[in-house]
Amino acid sequence: MAERKIDKMLGIRTTGMREWKDNNREYSRYEATPYKALEILTANYKFRGVNKVVDFGCGRGRVAFYLHNHFHLPVTGIEANSKTFEEALENKAAYRLKAKHIPAPIKFKYGLAQHYKIDKKDNCFYFFNPFTVKIFKKVANNILSSVEKDPRTVDLIIYYPLPEYKEFLRTTPFTIINKIMVPDATDSKEKIIIYRLRKDDIEADTEAETDACINY
Ligand SMILES: C[S@@+](CC[C@H](N)C(=O)[O-])C[C@H]1O[C@@H](n2cnc3c(N)ncnc32)[C@H](O)[C@@H]1O
Repeated sequence: MAERKIDKMLGIRTTGMREWKDNNREYSRYEATPYKALEILTANYKFRGVNKVVDFGCGRGRVAFYLHNHFHLPVTGIEANSKTFEEALENKAAYRLKAKHIPAPIKFKYGLAQHYKIDKKDNCFYFFNPFTVKIFKKVANNILSSVEKDPRTVDLIIYYPLPEYKEFLRTTPFTIINKIMVPDATDSKEKIIIYRLRKDDIEADTEAETDACINY
């Protein structure tokens, strides 16, 4: 189904792009995840055990509204561009008129993803190429610190994964649990990789560190 048609069904406007005015090289421009990618994601990944989804660099909120509508999940979007953030809020007002029956909250926060304080309920994190790997590392480290403090299983959903992101994630305790190809893709990056860090692995790591302290 065409992008505008699904937008209309949800009561939102998320098509188009927005470049950063100062040609910011660290932050990517706005462009929504194509609906065909969200369709294949939700057909293959059922968000079981997910308490809250955070979309880092949420733009006009397409991913947040789509997942909220499909799974009735709490979602939070973080956006650093003030104009784009305002558009996400306008979309929320219009979407809420159509989705009165879904009690789960949708929240948008204006600010930098790397400054977002991870909540202990957050356990699924979405990224569509929002920023450079330098910033991605900061966000991933914030997630890792949060799960060390409040152990829980967490997933990272990465659409259009950049090689630098994949390289960095190989150095972390996250492991790949699924790779989903987008149908009719013309570009090899048009896929979704889902990484997981299991609660048991966090606890096992902490125990290993404690043992090491006793032994030496
Ligand atoms: C490629 S768009 C993805 C939009 C949305 N996640 C989606 O998939 O439909 C990336 C978004 O990240 C935002 N962004 C870039 N750097 C950011 C940062 N440091 N913190 C928060 N948002 C950021 C951009 O303004 C843009 O709206």
